[in-house]
Amino acid sequence: MVRISELRDHSEWLATVSDWILAEWPKPERDRSAVEHRMMGHGPHEGLPLALIALEDEAPIGVISLIHHAESEKIGRPYWVDAVYVLPAFRGRRIASELLRAAEAKARQLRLPVLFALTDIRAFYEKQGWAAVVGTTAGATRDVVVSKVFS
Ligand SMILES: CC(C)(COP(=O)(O)OP(=O)(O)OC[C@H]1O[C@@H](n2cnc3c(N)ncnc32)[C@H](O)[C@@H]1OP(=O)(O)O)[C@@H](O)C(=O)NCCC(=O)NCCS
Repeated sequence: MVRISELRDHSEWLATVSDWILAEWPKPERDRSAVEHRMMGHGPHEGLPLALIALEDEAPIGVISLIHHAESEKIGRPYWVDAVYVLPAFRGRRIASELLRAAEAKARQLRLPVLFALTDIRAFYEKQGWAAVVGTTAGATRDVVVSKVFS
């Protein structure tokens, strides 16, 4: 059975989960401690960053993280889904959908008015009621900003 928990309650898995993110989205300046800080550090918004993990048989199989992105606050987009990732062997079982639903519930609890995500798979988000933000399709890539409004 899959259950969703806060990563802060399972810090024994922080390195494992950070390594998934590093391997999926490598960047020269990014190391494990930078990823850990982005997922679990302290920010100006109480409760963020926040990471949720999906656990099966007490081992993590997926993660989603929410962040406050100060630079994007200037353009009215402060709160973001920073990463959603499911281990390849567990894909296609709606684990990511469950993680997104749980992240949305946390966003509501934290009274975040809206969440944004930059994604190349908008269909995944649209299936959960998110919408593409008009005019944000990045030129050379298929990435698009999607959002969901809570209030
Ligand atoms: C994307 C990812 C998180 C999906 O995880 P998952 O647990 O297999 O997703 P779900 O089973 O919850 O999928 C829910 C729906 O989204 C769709 N979907 C999932 N991945 C998709 C993809 N890559 N492209 C288009 N649609 C996708 C599914 O087909 C499913 O649709 P359905 O309801 O019509 O069957 C997983 O493939 C992954 O970790 N990929 C690598 C990292 C990544 O790309 N993250 C997202 C970047 S923004």
